[in-house]
Amino acid sequence: MNQSNKKYLEFFKDSGINYFLQENPRNWFDKTDKIKIKSNKNEDNNKAIKIQNVINKIKSYETPLKRNAKNLVVFDGSLNAKVMFIGEAPGRDEDEQGLPFVGKAGQLLNKMLKAINLDRKEVYITNVVNWRPPDNRTPSDEEILQFLPFLQEQIDIVCPDFIFLLGGIAAKAILSTPLALGKIRGKWHTYQSIHLNKTIYTIASYHPAFLLRSPAFKKASWEDLQMLQKKLNEKN
Ligand code: URA
Repeated sequence: MNQSNKKYLEFFKDSGINYFLQENPRNWFDKTDKIKIKSNKNEDNNKAIKIQNVINKIKSYETPLKRNAKNLVVFDGSLNAKVMFIGEAPGRDEDEQGLPFVGKAGQLLNKMLKAINLDRKEVYITNVVNWRPPDNRTPSDEEILQFLPFLQEQIDIVCPDFIFLLGGIAAKAILSTPLALGKIRGKWHTYQSIHLNKTIYTIASYHPAFLLRSPAFKKASWEDLQMLQKKLNEKN
């Protein structure tokens, strides 16, 4: 036994401790003796299995949208995300790659995330509709309702603290509101699920594709992003 270990054990003895529940005492003075952080691997596996189930359900759900699309587009990012970003539906690039927001709108989304110190790897990015509508047309109300249960299931699995809705279609689907985006943006709403014992703070803002066409709205979008950043900072 080296000298410092001996001193350490004597310290225990002097403190009235005669035996240890484990083979060796944890040396709290030793900075190299790292406390093992409880692994969340089981929970991660569970989430991955559950998301795979949702993906399988969407794949086997019969819809005419499937006929024109090349790839199913479900999500990108982290299953443990604190923030979930929800767009409308895949476009051409997303359909090609099978990932959401990878085209021009996606590049702008990446910049928007970076501006509030987020990386797309740490958030969960998805869409209301998971197959590309022909010619990028807006999904119909019927299609929104058909895909909504899959989106709600994803929210239940990921269980984020915040939802950021990108554009009117996502706002309509999640907030069930007929109001235009201009009327509902800039304030916090709440999303409640019967399966989750928590309120998810939700904000609706402009879609990056709209911002590319109408840059004058970037100022408002920036204000909404800052509202999210403020809440995230408060939570940390
Ligand atoms: N627009 C969307 O709404 N979603 C995407 O994934 C890409 C563009």
